[in-house]
Amino acid sequence: MGIRFLLNGEPRDVEAAPTVTLLDWLREEARLTGTKEGCNEGDCGACTVMVTDADGTSRALNACILFMGQLEGRAVRTVEGIAGPGGALHPVQEAMVAHHGSQCGFCTPGFVVSMAVAHLNGRRDHDDQLAGNLCRCTGYAPIVRAAEAAADAPVPDWMRADAEALGDPAFTFPKIRSSGATPAAVPTSSDALAEWYAAHPDATLIAGATDVGLWVTKGLRDLAPVAFLNRCADLTGIAADQDSIRIGAMTSLTEVGAYFTDRHPSLAGMIRRYGSVQVRNAATIGGNIANGSPIGDSPPALIALGATLHLRKGEARRDMPLEAFFLDYGKQDRAPGEFVEAISVPVQPDRLACYKLSKRFDQDISAVCGCFNVTVEEGVVVAARIAFGGMAGVPKRAAAVEAALVDRPWSLETVTAAQARFAEDFTPLSDMRASAAYRLRAAEGMLMRYFRESRGEAVSVLEVRA
Ligand SMILES: Cc1cc2nc3c(=O)[nH]c(=O)nc-3n(C[C@H](O)[C@H](O)[C@H](O)COP(=O)(O)OP(=O)(O)OC[C@H]3O[C@@H](n4cnc5c(N)ncnc54)[C@H](O)[C@@H]3O)c2cc1C
Ligand code: FES
Ligand code: FES
Repeated sequence: MGIRFLLNGEPRDVEAAPTVTLLDWLREEARLTGTKEGCNEGDCGACTVMVTDADGTSRALNACILFMGQLEGRAVRTVEGIAGPGGALHPVQEAMVAHHGSQCGFCTPGFVVSMAVAHLNGRRDHDDQLAGNLCRCTGYAPIVRAAEAAADAPVPDWMRADAEALGDPAFTFPKIRSSGATPAAVPTSSDALAEWYAAHPDATLIAGATDVGLWVTKGLRDLAPVAFLNRCADLTGIAADQDSIRIGAMTSLTEVGAYFTDRHPSLAGMIRRYGSVQVRNAATIGGNIANGSPIGDSPPALIALGATLHLRKGEARRDMPLEAFFLDYGKQDRAPGEFVEAISVPVQPDRLACYKLSKRFDQDISAVCGCFNVTVEEGVVVAARIAFGGMAGVPKRAAAVEAALVDRPWSLETVTAAQARFAEDFTPLSDMRASAAYRLRAAEGMLMRYFRESRGEAVSVLEVRA
């Protein structure tokens, strides 16, 4: 397919297979080999590039799980474009030199791009911003020192050039070449997507590609025909009224986390531990639901909030409680040609707590993810929505535990009795993340943690340490 984008400030009009990754294209076709391949699955950040959208938003993304077909109309800046004209070093590069932030140098281009994007966006939460970049030899202290040292330096002009070019009404990409039959659809609205997908129900939809990318790089699968959803502007964004918050399927986890920081801080805190900055910038809420993963992090939280899923096929739309979507392991209530349009959650007082249990704090998949939303009035439980990931083949409510709480006093006795009901709700698996017995114990512990937290006790390891 023909793809037009800016590469290090230069308009490019290239012919590429839609599911070739940007990393492969950069290294093999463009011969820009500064961008490194480490894991080829989104885990190490060696391939980090800066991608700017037409609205001027710049973000760090992993090029190894970013398809060429996702780049139409966007701007890419690789490590070669982070240095300025004539080879002038970017402030983060100068700081990396001054603070000895690089030894073997393999991870350095990825770190430099992540740091330059964070610097551009005024981010000073360096530990979070760099959690998706792995370094095996230097150690993180000199790198974080370099990020701190560069933080006050002015943003170089060239780092703003992509947003300015894409936002300039006079700017046009070179005329697209004829590419013959297009093997990929790039709809620009949900109406266009609905029409195309109804006619091609066997197609693969590609949202953020943080799952689908691995089907190609690790599974070596041919996905054709495919449709890229990232240009469907009306599938992106969050709109709220007095009763409900509607999240478009293409809204990224970064945007979802930012939106809920004030409304449901525990959800935002969990999203902070979802993959890395690069993964959250790409991954969408629709993809995290549609993939039906039993260990996806957002479904248990959304189920606990009482979310409604909005599906569309052609002109037909239907809604369902999110928990009803997950039928069995690998099986969802979604017909061929039907897609996730949005998810909505009721506006409510914040009682939500999300506990993500994983072996590492950053960049790890949950062994167990428990989300609790219990309403207590005058000391009595009047409603309870409790949902778990990692405890069954699907994200699932803890119905027996909920029943053991509702209409009873919110007391240690009630909670202790309810803990015993987890074994009725779940028969978890043992796998490399956790044993079945550990998962059940962890779920019981999470309920107790929620109870203690509701009474104002410090329960987080981080809070206790502080
Ligand atoms: C390094 C790394 C770390 C990760 N960490 C986490 C983590 O901590 N927690 C977690 O939950 N997940 C994690 N993931 C998994 C992944 O990020 C999520 O599942 C993600 O939300 C998928 O969204 P996406 O937009 O990238 O979907 P894609 O990969 O584009 O698509 C996933 C699936 O959903 C389908 N799909 C996408 N959008 C729609 C739609 N609107 N309608 C119908 N079908 C659709 C696709 O066809 C495909 O089958 C991680 C992945 C990586 C690579
Ligand atoms: S090569 Fe490791 S994240 Fe891309
Ligand atoms: S400098 Fe060698 S991996 Fe980071």
